[in-house]
This record gives sequence, structure tokens and C-alpha cells, in this order.
Amino acid sequence: MRPRRFLPAGPLKGTIRVPGDKSISHRSIMLGALAVGETRVTGLLEGEDVLATAAAMRAMGASVERIGEGEWSVHGVGVGALLQPQAPLDMGNSGTSTRLLMGLVASHPISATFVGDASLSKRPMGRVIDPLSQMGAAFEASDGGRLPLTVRGALPGVPIEYRLPVASAQVKSAILLAGLNTPGITTVIEPVPTRDHSERMLRGFGAELTVEAVNGERVIRIRGEAELKPQVIEVPGDPSSAAFFIVAALIVPGSEVLIENVGLNPTRAGIVEVLRLMGGSIEEVNRREVGGEPVADLLVKHSPLKGIEVDPAVAPSMIDEFPVLFVAAALAEGTTVTSGLDELRVKESDRLSAMAAALTAAGAQVTETADGLTVVGTAGDPLPGGGPVTTHLDHRIAMAMAIAGIASRDGVDVDDTRPIATSFPVFEALLESLAG
Ligand code: S3P
Repeated sequence: MRPRRFLPAGPLKGTIRVPGDKSISHRSIMLGALAVGETRVTGLLEGEDVLATAAAMRAMGASVERIGEGEWSVHGVGVGALLQPQAPLDMGNSGTSTRLLMGLVASHPISATFVGDASLSKRPMGRVIDPLSQMGAAFEASDGGRLPLTVRGALPGVPIEYRLPVASAQVKSAILLAGLNTPGITTVIEPVPTRDHSERMLRGFGAELTVEAVNGERVIRIRGEAELKPQVIEVPGDPSSAAFFIVAALIVPGSEVLIENVGLNPTRAGIVEVLRLMGGSIEEVNRREVGGEPVADLLVKHSPLKGIEVDPAVAPSMIDEFPVLFVAAALAEGTTVTSGLDELRVKESDRLSAMAAALTAAGAQVTETADGLTVVGTAGDPLPGGGPVTTHLDHRIAMAMAIAGIASRDGVDVDDTRPIATSFPVFEALLESLAG
């Protein structure tokens, strides 16, 4: 464990650039590993989760090499040509690596065993086992459909039409990736839109993929036995990482921070919209496209925030940002009510109970409901502080409570900062650079 007390900071000032988007980084390595020839990636997130994906693709035959900072070269094997891994694939803390790679293995004539840390080993995999079994893959999973588990791929796989029972980009992507090496058309129906990086990137690599709106649902079709062409990919900055600094700048008096190169794909940008509704001053400067994704620099200034009722419909577009939104709510004037967040209970930790406990330990007024938190804010006064708070191997709990710490009177003790390295290894250094 690496505990740390995050102490109150003066105004945050300066310009930072957040590391590459985690979702896009995973996908660029996976698709690069399935294209024949060299894919070049810049701005890749070099966090533990993405490194787990890189190691797994190497174990299945691709060459995945680091050339420089954030710069990687991937030589793929071609769709259908993944090799049998010789040892269990260690996914560490990464649900995205696990679920997407289960999809890839499901339609290759190989088998793979997936293992992970204590957090990942508690997370439900049944949501991908169900559709991938329908496609012909066979599974031996631990109790409750959990890791460790072994997937035996089907060849040929069976194309399916599958309506997502939970709003999950990981489930959608697992099916689309399995569809890549399945004859015919695989169809995923999304009643609620989730992040669409897989669709964008699969198209970019030359897969035949269509998206149609039918009766308010998204119908995604992919033609299998695809041939992917190598790409040059620039990964935009991760809005989920930027969110910690957006909230920090909003709640620490006197702050003004420019966060450069933030991905603002509409399926990810819900946090910016919600913080603006709460009164946050977040200005988009220099809107442009990076790697087929909308990007801007964000100028964020300290703002008095107001509590709101958060529309559950925005949840999928900010699903990873609720821990830090709860911190913003704890310093707002009035009450913030959230609901419809059952999915937060099956992330790296149960984020509703973890954040309720953590914020309470830091002196905030929080009530946990079945599917959300209700937070009564301090109207801008610093939180008393305290702790220690338990991170439960969850990077986002650690970072959210670090931000609570710098906006507190006495500081907040975080029991373990190690998990931060899964998604944002330079988080603490950036925080220190802004606190001057
Ligand atoms: C991700 C999808 C989301 C998100 C995760 C990354 C992805 O998970 O929470 O951090 O890259 O597809 P779910 O699919 O479980 O919602």
C-alpha cells in the first residue's frame, strides 16, 4: 500500500496536458494487432491497464513495441491469425482489456485463460459470456461468471443479433470484435448509446461497419472475416482523466487551469455538460479533430457551484466521472441528487458505497440510495477533511479523494495511491505542478 495525505492547496494555476484516452489506447493496440503491417500510435496512454493489453496481444503473436514517449509500433498478425497464448493472460485491474479480449479470442481457434487482481476478480463477466456463448465460444468461469476464466474460441463463429441488456461499451465492443472473424453480419442493438470508439476505429481500419438509428435505438452491423489495414493513430487526451483537474480548478478558489487536448466525443463529454449546469466555467478553446475524435483545450476557472438533480440519461456519457462529480457536489451550494447509477456498483469497486464512505470520512454530508448518492454541499466552504479513505484498488476513488483533499481544511488521507498508475501515472506530478 502507498498511503498519502492530500493537503489543502492554494489556487491551481497553469497549463497541463492529460495522457491519452484509455479506451482509445486499448483499441488502437488491439486493432493494430489484427491488421497486417505496421500501425503507428502516438499519445498512447502508458498506464498499467493499457500495458496489460499490449502484453496480451504480444502473447497472441503481435509485435507491440514502445519507440518513444507515448509512441508505439504495432505489427499485426491479421484477423483470424491470433496465436495460442502459452500462459494465462494477466489483465491486472483492467475490465476493458478482459472483456474486449474475451471477444477477440471467442472467434479465433485458440483458448485463453484470463486472470486479474482482487478487484477484477470480483467483476461480472456473465454480460460478455452470454453473447459470446451464443456466437459459439465455450467458457469455464469461476463462480458467478468471474475470473479466473478460460475461453475456447469457436471456428467458425456464429453471427448473432444481440440487444444489449446493460448500457456497456465493453459488452458492445466484445461482440463487435468477435464479429470481426465471424462469417456474415454480426448485429448489436444499443437501446442507450455508449462510447463509440470501437465503431469509429473499426471503420478507420477498413472494417465494413454501419450504424443506423431505428426507433431511437442504435443498430450496429459489422461484416466478418474482415481485412484490417494498418493505421497511423493519434490518441486524444482522456476526458476521464481531465475531469479530475476540471473539478479541482472549479472548487479551489482562485484557480485557473488550461487543460490541453481533451477528447470531447459526445458519448464521453457528459461531465462537462453537468458541471456547466452546476455553474462551472469551462470554456472550449481551439476545437479540432484528433484521430477522428473531437478535441478542444478547456479553460477552467474557479466557480461557485450549485447542487442539481442529475438526469440519469446522461450517465452513460460520464459513467467513469461520478466519483469526482460527487466531490464537486460536496462543495456546491445545495443538494445534488443522482440516480440510475446501478452500473457504478460493478466498476473497479462499488463506487456508490466507496464514495459515500470516503466523502463521509472527509466530512461531507452524503446519503447512499439503491442507485445513486445524494450529496448536500458546503456552499464553497472547504470540507473538514480526515480519513483514511479506502480506495478498494480503484484508481478513480483514489484520484477523486485526492481532489477532495486539496479542497479540504485539514487534508484527506488516502489509504493507497498505487491504483492511480492503472490509468493516470502522472496524476500526482500534474497536481503538484498546478499547485505550484
Ligand atoms: C469502457 C467502457 C466503460 C467504462 C470503462 C471503459 C470502454 O465500461 O466504465 O472505463 O473502454 O469500453 P462499461 O462498458 O462496463 O460501461
